[in-house]
Amino acid sequence: MSKQAVLELDGKKFELPVIEGTEGELAIDIRELRAKTGYITLDNGYMNTGSCESKITFLDGENGILRYRGYPIEQLAEKSTFMETSYLLTFGELPTKQQLENFKGDISSYSSIPHGVKKILDQFPTTAHPMGVVASATASLSGFNPEFLNMPLPPETRIKAIAQVISQIKIIAAYFYRRTVHKDFIESKPELGWSGDFLNMMFGGDGYKVDPEIAKALDTLLILHADHEQNCSTSAVRLVGSSQANIFAVIVGGIDALWGQLHGGANQAVLEMLELIKKDGGDYKKFLAKAKDKNDPFKLMGFGHRVYKNFDPRATIIKKACDTILAKLGVVDPLLDIARGLEEAALSDDYFKERNLYPNVDFYSGIIYRALGIPTNMFTVMFVLGRIPGWLSQWKEMREDPAQKIARPRQIYTGANARDYVSIDKR
Ligand code: SDX
Repeated sequence: MSKQAVLELDGKKFELPVIEGTEGELAIDIRELRAKTGYITLDNGYMNTGSCESKITFLDGENGILRYRGYPIEQLAEKSTFMETSYLLTFGELPTKQQLENFKGDISSYSSIPHGVKKILDQFPTTAHPMGVVASATASLSGFNPEFLNMPLPPETRIKAIAQVISQIKIIAAYFYRRTVHKDFIESKPELGWSGDFLNMMFGGDGYKVDPEIAKALDTLLILHADHEQNCSTSAVRLVGSSQANIFAVIVGGIDALWGQLHGGANQAVLEMLELIKKDGGDYKKFLAKAKDKNDPFKLMGFGHRVYKNFDPRATIIKKACDTILAKLGVVDPLLDIARGLEEAALSDDYFKERNLYPNVDFYSGIIYRALGIPTNMFTVMFVLGRIPGWLSQWKEMREDPAQKIARPRQIYTGANARDYVSIDKR
C-alpha cells in the first residue's frame, strides 16, 4: 500500500497519494484535490509545487548535488564535451562513438542560417540587446521551416528540429555579434567542434586561431549551464510546449524568461555590479550594506538561489576555472579581486549566512566570458547557448508523455464582487 497523506477539512478526512522519486524526494499528489475537496492550493513562485516528474536532472539543494541523467556535474565538466552532454540530456544515455558522430552530423547539417534570417538580423540596430535579437531571429526560423510546425512532430522529425535549433541559434548569435563589431560574417565550420566553431565565428579572421584549451574552457562552461531541472525558463518552455506550440515558440519562451536579471540576466548584472563597485572606489563592503538594507532595492547579483542552500556546485567549478583561464590568457582582471573580496565578506556576514545566500552559477561566469573577449551584453546569450540542450530535452520529455496535459493553473480571485454596469453620466 503506497503512503497516503491525510487532509482534514471541514470535519472530513481526505486521503491523498504520496509519490516518491528515485532519490527519495516526496510529493503529495494533489491532482484530485479540487474534485475531492473543492479546494485548490496557492503557492507564489511555485516554491513548494512540483510541475512534473522528470528523468533528466537531479538537484539536491541542501547538499549541492547536480546530476544530468545520474552523472555528477563534476565528472561531466571534467571528462565530457558539450555535444556529448547534449546527447546525454536528449536521449538519456552517454552515446557510443557512432551515436555521437551521427548526432553531430545531424547538427552540422544545419550549419548555415536562411538568407532571410540574415536579412532580419540586419534590420536590428547594432545597439540592440542581443537577447532580444536572438529571441526574434529564433521565432523567425518558424517562417523558414514549415515542416517543424506540424505538431505533434513524428519522433525522427523532432530530432531534426532539435539538431537545427542547437546549431542555428549559435550561428544567429555569432552573426549579430559580427555586425556589432562591423566585421564580416564567418560561416560555421563544424569540423572545429561546437565551441571552437563558435569562437571562430565570433573572433575569426586576421590570423585568429582557436586555442584548444580556450575552446575546452568554453565547452565546460556550456556543460555547466546545460540543464537545471524546473527553473524559471525551463518551466516557461514546458508551459508553452504544453499547448503543442512549435519548437521555435517554445525556445523563444525560454529565452525571454532567462533574460530577467533574477535569472539568466544575472551574469550580465554581476559584471555591471562589479564595474559599479570598481568605479565607486572598490569598497565592496558598502555594497554589501546596500544589499542588506530592506529600503534599498539593490541585491547582490550572482548571490542566492531558490534551490541551493549551501553552495552551487557549478559556481565552485567556475571559480576554479577562473584562475586557470585567466592565467592561460595572461589576463589580470581587477574585477576578479573585487568578486573574491565580495564573496569572502558575504560568506562571513550573518545576513547572508542566515538566508543561506551563496555565489551561484552567474557570480564568476561573466569574469571568464569577459576574459574570452565576449561582450557583457552577450553573457546571457552564452547562457542561452548552454541551456538550449536542456530546454530541448525537457520539451522532448514532455512531448513524449502521452498523459501530458495543457498547463492551466488556477487562481484565488480577490477582486470586486458582482455589480451592475453604471452609465458614464451617472458615475
Ligand atoms: C539562475 O532556478 C534555477 O535553477 C536558476 C539557475 C539555473 O541554472 O537555471 O540556477 C540560474 O537564475 C541563478 C540565480 C541568478 N540570480 C541572481 O543572482 C539574482 C540575485 N539573487 C536573488 O534575486 C535571489 O537570490 C534569487 C532570485 C536567485 C532567489 O530568490 P528567492 O528564492 O525567491 O529568494 P528570496 O528573494 O525570497 O530571498 C530570500 C531572502 C530575502 O530576504 P528576507 O525577505 O527573508 O529578509 O534572501 C534575500 C531576500 O531579500 N536575498 C537577497 C539576495 N537573494 C535573496 N538579499 C540580497 N542579495 C541577494 N542576492
